[in-house]
Amino acid sequence: MNTDKGYVDAPVPDGLDLKAEIIRLKKEKGAVIMAHYYQKGEIQDIADYIGDSLALARIASTLDAHIIVLCGVHFMAETAKVLCPDKKVLCPDLNAGCSLADSCPAEDFARFIEQHPGHTVISYVNTSAAVKALTDIVVTSGNAMKVVDSLPADEKIIFGPDRNLGNYINSMTGRQMVLWDGACHVHERFSLERLLELKKEHPGAKVLVHPECRPQLRMLADEVGSTAALLKYAASSDAAEFIVATESGILHEMRKQCPGKTFIPLPGDDSTCACNDCSYMKLNTLEKLYNTLLYEQPEVHVAPELMEAAKRPIVRMLELS
Ligand code: 13P
Ligand code: SF4
Repeated sequence: MNTDKGYVDAPVPDGLDLKAEIIRLKKEKGAVIMAHYYQKGEIQDIADYIGDSLALARIASTLDAHIIVLCGVHFMAETAKVLCPDKKVLCPDLNAGCSLADSCPAEDFARFIEQHPGHTVISYVNTSAAVKALTDIVVTSGNAMKVVDSLPADEKIIFGPDRNLGNYINSMTGRQMVLWDGACHVHERFSLERLLELKKEHPGAKVLVHPECRPQLRMLADEVGSTAALLKYAASSDAAEFIVATESGILHEMRKQCPGKTFIPLPGDDSTCACNDCSYMKLNTLEKLYNTLLYEQPEVHVAPELMEAAKRPIVRMLELS
């Protein structure tokens, strides 16, 4: 089957009940569908597991299924493949990259590490397998603080690639980790002006901010955390309204878990685009998911020479958190 475009380029029959067919194929093949909270709602609804990047990595490491379909972005599927080398890991569209991972090419990161001898290298999970292979410990937004806190206070640390998450950890722990200068194009664009306006319009609203956002937004937050942490905060809070500064896909699960509460997505600073959508995450569709299950393509591969080196820091993360 032709996957030159990065996904199975085959027509889906008109009138097909896609959801029913996906469920049928999944059962027939003994496959498991995992979806990140930033996926389209219809994909989250059909998944066996939904979660943040930490939960998806944890679950992948324990699965029995022979086929894993990872509906998220490429580095998430790659992480699952590294943790489950004997399984077939499929991703509905291999073009689902990540601007943050792209901001940290492995060769440049290797030079950066060379320039800072004696430093422990901590990398955010939003990186390629090649960057993970250069890393001592991988972290996600859900456990970064805990992992850094577990290291001796005088340990010298390089943190990459997200400067905003790194800056947040430095500010919370008093550390001076050396930061790689990378960022996510979605989280960098949330509008401070709109947040100030929305806070005035909704004085009782709690502000939920992902740590990939800029510090000036973070400072206005009632809760800073991973997608799972923001969800947990919203579900347990007494507040009725929330302003949400992270990718819009999370609103689907927030509204499902908290039907009586109102979630207001914070717009980006460019009103002409849907800046709180991650264009990579939204490349996955039900049609592509159907074709992926039907043809068992496209498959995610990791270069054999990277497998062990990339696995070590991910396993270390799972042990520490
Ligand atoms: P989480 O670690 O919260 O799942 O976030 C992943 C991500 O890509 C954020 O943009
Ligand atoms: Fe990467 Fe940003 Fe998309 Fe998350 S939201 S997958 S960090 S581009």
